[in-house]
Amino acid sequence: MSSTTAVSLTELKNRIETRQARIGIVGMGYVGLPLALLFSNERFRVTGFDIEQRKVETLNNGGSYIVRILPQAIQQAQRVGFVATSNYSDIEAMDVIIICVPTPLNEFHEPDLSYVSSTVESIAPHLHDGQLVVLESTTYPGTTEELVVPLIEKGNRHGLTVARNSAENGIHVAFSPEREDPGNETVARHDIPKVVGGCGVVASDLASACYGSIFRRVIPVSTPSVAEMTKLLENIYRCVNIALVNELKQLCMRMGIDIHEVIDAAKTKPFGFQAFYPGPGLGGHCIPIDPFYLSWKAKQFDFRTRFIELAGEVNINMPYFVIDQLADGLNRHRKSINGSKILVLGLAYKRDIDDLRESPSLTIIELLREKGAAVSYNDPYFPTVGHGRHYALNMTNTPLDNLARYDAVVIVTDHSTYDYRAIVDQSQLIIDTRNATRGIDSPKIVRC
Ligand SMILES: NC(=O)c1ccc[n+]([C@@H]2O[C@H](COP(=O)([O-])OP(=O)(O)OC[C@H]3O[C@@H](n4cnc5c(N)ncnc54)[C@H](O)[C@@H]3O)[C@@H](O)[C@H]2O)c1
Repeated sequence: MSSTTAVSLTELKNRIETRQARIGIVGMGYVGLPLALLFSNERFRVTGFDIEQRKVETLNNGGSYIVRILPQAIQQAQRVGFVATSNYSDIEAMDVIIICVPTPLNEFHEPDLSYVSSTVESIAPHLHDGQLVVLESTTYPGTTEELVVPLIEKGNRHGLTVARNSAENGIHVAFSPEREDPGNETVARHDIPKVVGGCGVVASDLASACYGSIFRRVIPVSTPSVAEMTKLLENIYRCVNIALVNELKQLCMRMGIDIHEVIDAAKTKPFGFQAFYPGPGLGGHCIPIDPFYLSWKAKQFDFRTRFIELAGEVNINMPYFVIDQLADGLNRHRKSINGSKILVLGLAYKRDIDDLRESPSLTIIELLREKGAAVSYNDPYFPTVGHGRHYALNMTNTPLDNLARYDAVVIVTDHSTYDYRAIVDQSQLIIDTRNATRGIDSPKIVRC
């Protein structure tokens, strides 16, 4: 049987078990590319779809554009059939299609599902009986049933519908959230249990079989909405707890208490407490964004998600708090932000990664420029920074020499490659938003 004709349920399961199933992953970004490599490691033939031609070419040339993914990993995947393409007609040859495209907020802070919609509209005509489509992009509960399913049914050129039970022909659809923590080397990706919610038991069963071949544990849940909400609960939990420690940090500073010492003591409790750490504000594609997907959806149900709004308010204000601390620090040296030379150390939204999305460093640099500072940055992961969704910096990485020429150095991201002792020794004033200088005793340091 050719792979572009209808595939029976048993046959698809069999193909998955024998690694014959062809896997298509749409969106070769921070989520999709590592997922493609996981399937390739298990000897599946994977096709990566992306609209960015530069990415497709880099991958097909055996290269990588994500620092922590080495070109050798791409080349190893190529040896078991990995290819990248922008051609959606190749969807027909796939058995499983997994969608990993962005889900940002628009300028009004509302969900922007245009990437998901356009992806589903592009793949829908090419889908055939018996294929499994899984959405992995983080989104509000209801997206799979209310957006993905109707778009597939509307766009399919064979007039196929989404199958709901074993007796039915059609396309199988499920949602399975990506739960990766970029830069966290303590848990291997295949050890993160995979939550799966299908539109019907068959889709759930197929998606579980598919992910079960690359993840050690699969957690089936009753519906896609449960799976969608699970991901949001996890991220809202982080967002709210980070806001809590950010607020307590500000109180502790007024009270002369070291919040980090408090957290270190509290986390010795063997139950009922999980440590979260304060910082200069939230960053990344998930925590600053995902909670607002739920608060937007909640309004349809005449419900206000007050925890989310409050946590958002505290976290969004953190870059402004950093600027206040810098102003106080400079004031002690009889200087103002206006006219000062400031070095921002670390741009990435967290340590040791090459991801700038929603990073608080961007807001901090813009605020400093608005106040008349001459701002430079150092971050080994970004030789240059141009402009993005919410920023236009157009800056070049400054070498870490002659730090004494800056009126202040603001540590925004605590990359592990920095020698913090040397940085403190050479600088006039340090604003440390990450407790990166812990253990170093110097009147030059403002920990905030
Ligand atoms: N990055 C993370 O750590 C992380 C963790 C968990 C969940 N997520 C979620 O996963 C999803 C993807 O995030 P990401 O970080 O991989 O995003 P990303 O921006 O790194 O990658 C998305 C990719 O999709 C491509 N794309 C966009 N529209 C497309 C289309 N119509 N067809 C084909 N390709 C298209 C883009 O070119 C890009 O390469 C988001 O919903 C995000 O919230 C991300």
